[in-house]
Amino acid sequence: MADNGSILVTGAAGQLGAVGRTVTGLLLDRGLPVRAMVRREDDRAAALRAAGAEVVVGDLFDPADVYRVLNGCRRVYFGMSVSAGYLEATMTMAVVARELGVDALVNMSQMTVSQMSIQDTTQSPQQRQHWLGEQALAWSGLPVVTIRPTVFLEGFFLRFVAPTVRDRGRIEVPFGRGKTSPVAAGDVARVVATVLADPGPHVGRIYELTGPRSQDMQGVAREYSDALNREVTYSDVPLEDWERELRKQGFPEHVNRHLLTMAELHRAGRYDRLADGVERVTGRPAMSVREFVSLHADEFGGRRT
Ligand SMILES: NC(=O)c1ccc[n+]([C@@H]2O[C@H](COP(=O)([O-])OP(=O)(O)OC[C@H]3O[C@@H](n4cnc5c(N)ncnc54)[C@H](OP(=O)(O)O)[C@@H]3O)[C@@H](O)[C@H]2O)c1
Repeated sequence: MADNGSILVTGAAGQLGAVGRTVTGLLLDRGLPVRAMVRREDDRAAALRAAGAEVVVGDLFDPADVYRVLNGCRRVYFGMSVSAGYLEATMTMAVVARELGVDALVNMSQMTVSQMSIQDTTQSPQQRQHWLGEQALAWSGLPVVTIRPTVFLEGFFLRFVAPTVRDRGRIEVPFGRGKTSPVAAGDVARVVATVLADPGPHVGRIYELTGPRSQDMQGVAREYSDALNREVTYSDVPLEDWERELRKQGFPEHVNRHLLTMAELHRAGRYDRLADGVERVTGRPAMSVREFVSLHADEFGGRRT
């Protein structure tokens, strides 16, 4: 495949998983030119520029912006934060990519889509929009590579539980006895960067990504204990209590409904999955919970010696 211009990375500033930001760094490390799309000029944009990316500002809901930022790029990573207009942004990117022509469009999706059908969707508007978006991209005829990760370690397993692990040594989430195999966003980014560096063999493929182990939350808590060298336990909080706390955080309703659905699906055992996409694409196994918690030990209140 001929190398034509920069690789466009959307959502490059990074908010939760920051897949776009990590992809940008990995591609620059490989010596590839990257056009990093951000929503606004801020410290994160400055850091991307300092790292060597061409930074462009734009709104993924605005077709003219998307045309301007994609023009001149032949490969694109499309991903942005969970938001109510996700399908509209996906379609905008598809329309512009068809107009300009691309060699590869790497589309961020979710592993739950693998279990969805017309008769069996989920209550998450985000998951439904990924399910619809994947189908429309397939109809588009674009050279798409689909990335379907399971739950990221950065959300439920870091941001949401860091305060209770720090203060009470407890992971408090409403996952019941359900098993889960969270994946590090850094591993997801490694897959995306590997695909973008040489998309040819990957076009048309769907990669399901999980961590290396599917286990219940007692098992997850044991990995926290090992990583922090102190006891961390799991407390299965009632879904209603967790929802009340969630709503205090002031997320948009779209995000609340998505997170509540993820919790319900965990309880129902629907996150008990294992896939080898990370190792198959990158040649390196996915990060374990223990490794992830060790890396983020300070956020969990530090490691005991
Ligand atoms: N979290 C999980 O457990 C999980 C699991 C599987 C799949 N996923 C998927 O992963 C994706 C999220 O990836 P991520 O965590 O890497 O994203 P992220 O870090 O949360 O967000 C990436 C960036 O998107 C930007 N953005 C939002 N709306 C935009 C717009 N209208 N125009 C331009 N940029 C916009 C944000 O900019 P600002 O920061 O400036 O607002 C943000 O920096 C979603 O598709 C989600 O469904 C997530």
